[in-house]
Amino acid sequence: MPRILSPRRRGHPPTGDAPNRRFPPLIIALLAQLLAAALVFGAAALLAAAAGVRFPLLAMLAAQGAVAALLGARFGLANWWIPLHIALPPAAAAATTLPVPAWVYLAFFLVLLLVFWNSARERVPLYLSNRLTWSALARLLPDRSGIAFLDVGSGLGGTLAHLARQRPRGRFAGIESAPLLFALSWLRLRILGPANVRLAYGDFWKQDLSPYDVVYCFLSPEPMPALYRKACAEMRPGSLFISNSFEVPGAPADEIVEVPDRRRTRLFVWRLH
Ligand SMILES: C[S@@+](CC[C@H](N)C(=O)[O-])C[C@H]1O[C@@H](n2cnc3c(N)ncnc32)[C@H](O)[C@@H]1O
Repeated sequence: MPRILSPRRRGHPPTGDAPNRRFPPLIIALLAQLLAAALVFGAAALLAAAAGVRFPLLAMLAAQGAVAALLGARFGLANWWIPLHIALPPAAAAATTLPVPAWVYLAFFLVLLLVFWNSARERVPLYLSNRLTWSALARLLPDRSGIAFLDVGSGLGGTLAHLARQRPRGRFAGIESAPLLFALSWLRLRILGPANVRLAYGDFWKQDLSPYDVVYCFLSPEPMPALYRKACAEMRPGSLFISNSFEVPGAPADEIVEVPDRRRTRLFVWRLH
């Protein structure tokens, strides 16, 4: 059974801007690698010219990765970028020696692009709500028929399909902007149902939230302040705004439900007024 943690008093909607939105992390990471390459290979060239010292390519690539990791951390990237920075230069060099046709890389890149469409711009990667979270969500739905539920960033549509089956009289909607995820979830719902789910392709920032009794999101810390402000501005009094895992700084949730899964998922629930 999900555990309900201490309900808190509502704070004011945060008004400050999200932290540094000037450059997406991906751009910062690429700049860190370029700068690191220039520093390491530049220094190696100077040493070779001045003292005749030559370093093995692998050592220079490892040094590039380490310098990029340091620069990335200095530029404010999260710690999980560190192993990526270290692995990237040797992995890229190794990839050029493999007998893989160029179109395979292009196809791989396109699939990743169509799935992780929002990762760079919105800083929202793809991870899916699990079954225990679906059950906890089902218990949070208002106990009356005909409720309207929206999943903003509906991924593969699993949350919607589960809840819609639980509540056949409810109206369940999802909006998704990653093309491949939208296409797959649309097909899945079309073929397997249930019939009381509607999916839209698009950007949830342009979606009117006012028709919904419950708006659910599982995004990242980045969009939460602005999305909470949007929910407060558009949703009707008494409706629920639920965030999986991500809080809103300065606006404590009215209720926090702890899901008994391995990662101790928390559902933050705001009752709007
Ligand atoms: C972490 S996944 C959650 C999927 C699903 N809600 C679930 O709980 O299983 C977040 C989803 O939001 C989508 N997304 C991110 N920004 C979006 C936007 N501005 N408009 C529509 N979808 C967006 C992503 O493509 C991704 O599929």
